[in-house]
Amino acid sequence: MKISVIGAGNVGGTLGKGFASKGHSVVFGVRDPESDKTRALLKDIGHGARAASVAEAAAGGEVVLLATPWPATREAIQMCGDLRGKVVIDSTNPVKPDLTGLELGHTTSAGEQVAAWAAGARVVKCFNTTGYPNMANPQYGENKATMFYCGDDPAAKKIVAKLAEDIGFETVDAGPLVNARLLESCAMLWIYLAIKQGMGVNFVYKLLKR
Ligand SMILES: NC(=O)c1ccc[n+]([C@@H]2O[C@H](COP(=O)([O-])OP(=O)(O)OC[C@H]3O[C@@H](n4cnc5c(N)ncnc54)[C@H](OP(=O)(O)O)[C@@H]3O)[C@@H](O)[C@H]2O)c1
Repeated sequence: MKISVIGAGNVGGTLGKGFASKGHSVVFGVRDPESDKTRALLKDIGHGARAASVAEAAAGGEVVLLATPWPATREAIQMCGDLRGKVVIDSTNPVKPDLTGLELGHTTSAGEQVAAWAAGARVVKCFNTTGYPNMANPQYGENKATMFYCGDDPAAKKIVAKLAEDIGFETVDAGPLVNARLLESCAMLWIYLAIKQGMGVNFVYKLLKR
């Protein structure tokens, strides 16, 4: 698929690399496509990955991954231009700068805000409930980490689930986009355990069934 990755940081860089390695066409939408940082990332990724302006990258993507800091996300969406009909993956977490909690939640979520800002886009919340090192390698012994996703467009959800599976996750449909409120809280718990409680990054959520 043609995937535009908006934000080439920890999450964007890691997922972009994973998608490119599985044969997807990846274009990073960045503020400075010619920067040394961007060049180094593209060299590391290979597989024909490119960088362009945010607007150019977003225009060419069938899928647009938002991987920007929460405070920059509204502006990044505006820079994307018309996102109507596109599958937009929201990986953001509206975490407070001191990591003590979420900027918003319970009555709304970043996922719902993204859907309001990106008019007509088919928004799916995904890739927000674990740290980026686990996006590079979701395999834990014989187990695959669980990646939850939610959204209101069934076809868009299928596309996003397949992308998560391509890079090694087991996926679980967590319902409508309103459940981004729950997934963002799960992310906050992961962040608390990893950073505040000092657990580090080598742990993931795994759904067990019987
Ligand atoms: N880190 C994790 O493990 C993790 C896990 C799950 C979800 N998340 C969420 O994913 C998002 C990204 O996190 P991250 O750790 O990848 O952040 P990061 O490493 O700081 O990368 C953010 C990227 O966004 C770009 N950016 C900033 N403002 C922008 C704008 N207005 N327009 C376009 N691009 C812009 C930055 O570009 P410049 O280099 O030009 O500044 C940078 O490449 C956050 O919302 C975070 O909560 C993070």
